[in-house]
Amino acid sequence: MRTVTLHFEDGEQRRIKVREGEFVLDAALRQGVPLVHQCRSGSCSTCVAQLITGNIETASDRSTSLLAIEAAEGKRLLCSSYAHADSELALHYPASLIYGTRIKVVEASVAALEWPAPSVARLTLELATDRDFTFRSGQYVRLKIPGANEWRSYSIASTVRELPCLHFLIRILEGGVVSEYLRTRCRQGDEILIEGPMGAFILRPVKAPQIFIAGGTGLAPIMAMLDEMRYRPGPRPPMLLSFGCASERQFFYRDEIELRQWWMPELRVILSADRVENRNSDLYEGNPVAAVAREPITDRETVAYLCGPPTMIEAGRRQLTEMGLAPEHIYAEQFLPSAISLAGR
Ligand SMILES: Cc1cc2nc3c(=O)[nH]c(=O)nc-3n(C[C@H](O)[C@H](O)[C@H](O)COP(=O)(O)OP(=O)(O)OC[C@H]3O[C@@H](n4cnc5c(N)ncnc54)[C@H](O)[C@@H]3O)c2cc1C
Ligand code: FES
Repeated sequence: MRTVTLHFEDGEQRRIKVREGEFVLDAALRQGVPLVHQCRSGSCSTCVAQLITGNIETASDRSTSLLAIEAAEGKRLLCSSYAHADSELALHYPASLIYGTRIKVVEASVAALEWPAPSVARLTLELATDRDFTFRSGQYVRLKIPGANEWRSYSIASTVRELPCLHFLIRILEGGVVSEYLRTRCRQGDEILIEGPMGAFILRPVKAPQIFIAGGTGLAPIMAMLDEMRYRPGPRPPMLLSFGCASERQFFYRDEIELRQWWMPELRVILSADRVENRNSDLYEGNPVAAVAREPITDRETVAYLCGPPTMIEAGRRQLTEMGLAPEHIYAEQFLPSAISLAGR
């Protein structure tokens, strides 16, 4: 049995006992320490922690989403790592995130369904009764639609200011459970269960420049973060939003983004599309990660938030690190396919 000390971002500490052959995350959950996690299979990087001292290693039969350079720097995925000695780990979020808000299941109903792009739904849910439900901008919830047994994860695209309403931006995938419901059956007043809040993708209280990179509906938590920035007291840091969609036709939320620029002059925006057909278009042709490569990073304390599909996150992490950003200043939320994100639950 090994003792592992967990150091949270807000200075809080927890000590857990980890058995031989037990993953560190499993040991924490067994002892009532609800560390942030998603897939429990090494593929989403949500449970990442920094090894300070000791010996914590990835299980030899697990392939993980960590880059070799991250592992060499002491990053460990707690869902896939064993403790071989008494050790100390640093978590990238405050203890208040997991102890301050309780995950609960609440009832809600469909207040509105809009279509900002042909394959993007903007769903607005209104909480039915539980007016204590709260969350941090950037977090996600799980939704259970009428007639389905499965849950799906969605980032909240709004802030607590809009409660009792919650907004979501949802990509429609052909044949998908939630996608088909939204496309064909969803009606105002439908009852939907919400479980949450979940996740550690939240704004950091830093004064350094902020880079937001969003691909497709990965814009959802970023919109919530930008709206929170708008109301933060004190001067705002320089902010850069790089937002990209697959094509010009799929592009959405231009007006919403322009509105944020108007509210916050510190916000600079690069819009991109993988394919740009119109030669007069103001869109950068390429993905939102490549679009940022042209922007020199001058402040070593710059913080980046990335949200989108796993390939975008991986490319973003690699590129930002090469551009001089400290890996511990890069925060990401991956929109894993349901089958992966629910594995191990
Ligand atoms: C933390 C987190 C936050 C997320 N936030 C968002 C968000 O804000 N917005 C967003 O759009 N998405 C988000 N996602 C992704 C979301 O949870 C769903 O995975 C996505 O919406 C698809 O759900 P669905 O029910 O429509 O499709 P699913 O039923 O999950 O199916 C997905 C695709 O797989 C295909 N498929 C399903 N089963 C099979 C099978 N057995 N064999 C072959 N193909 C199959 C379907 O036809 C479909 O094309 C998030 C994911 C995570 C983990
Ligand atoms: S990688 Fe550990 S929870 Fe996903």
